[in-house]
Amino acid sequence: MPSVSNSHKSGDIAVSVRDLSLTYTTAIDRKPTLKSRAKSLGRGTKQTRVVNALSHVNLDVEYGHVLGVIGANGAGKSTMMRVIAGILPPTEGRVEVFGKVSTLLALGVGFNPAMSGRKNVYLGGLAAGMSRGEIDDHFEEIADFSELGDAIDAPMRTYSSGMYARLAFSVAATTRPDILIVDEALSTGDAKFKEKSLNRMKELRGDDRALILVSHAMLTLRDICNDVAWIHKGKLVKRGNPDEVIDAYQEFLQVGKSAAIDEDV
Ligand SMILES: Nc1ncnc2c1ncn2[C@@H]1O[C@H](COP(=O)(O)OP(=O)(O)O)[C@@H](O)[C@H]1O
Ligand SMILES: [Mg+2]
Repeated sequence: MPSVSNSHKSGDIAVSVRDLSLTYTTAIDRKPTLKSRAKSLGRGTKQTRVVNALSHVNLDVEYGHVLGVIGANGAGKSTMMRVIAGILPPTEGRVEVFGKVSTLLALGVGFNPAMSGRKNVYLGGLAAGMSRGEIDDHFEEIADFSELGDAIDAPMRTYSSGMYARLAFSVAATTRPDILIVDEALSTGDAKFKEKSLNRMKELRGDDRALILVSHAMLTLRDICNDVAWIHKGKLVKRGNPDEVIDAYQEFLQVGKSAAIDEDV
């Protein structure tokens, strides 16, 4: 890919999250009896479950930063990534993105399972702002990186979740977006693919990029990030120096710092 001069520089804001709250309101499927249904219809009420997944989060991500996002399952990490990627509208507050966003999540969501991996690479590339010609130029690189072999021409509904993530990561890594969000996918797949993905992330680090990595792989985050945010129950509880934030998180989890269990937290 020709090196294109980029207008972003280290310290410029890539993503600005302002007082962000997100509430999921889900209709509860209770398999109502005829009697209860008639009753609720009569009163015009609906059973709903409300989850405050994010409450009043403020977070700026600068170009030149590799931000790790950590926190327990259900903390709200993926929700925040979906809002940043523009997939979910905020319930309250605001998210601004300065650059083009290409996310694993967005690419994954954008994949059409009825179509082949090859067709989806074109869709994903176009969605990430590439022209058809540019995708043609990069197709081999993407296909090679994914190591899918002949499966690249099989419908994606036949893919395992690992294969799915591989292709999504390959498109993201090859299109080299200004802002790259990787939600968990770095930890899918075999050790070799993980290592390769990690090396690619390291190559992508730079003053003109912002990388946001959601992961439970604390050793990896200590290695690759220069900034870490800890989300707990929808709130940003600590943010800053990776070792300090991860130490605090691990202390909170009371799992100690044994390398053996680090990667499984
Ligand atoms: N589509 C959804 N509908 C309703 N609740 C959801 C949905 N997605 C996530 N949640 C809830 O929102 C909270 C945050 O979830 P999530 O953002 O996936 O957390 P994390 O990625 O940190 O594990 C959890 O309580 C989860 O059950
Ligand atoms: Mg998640």
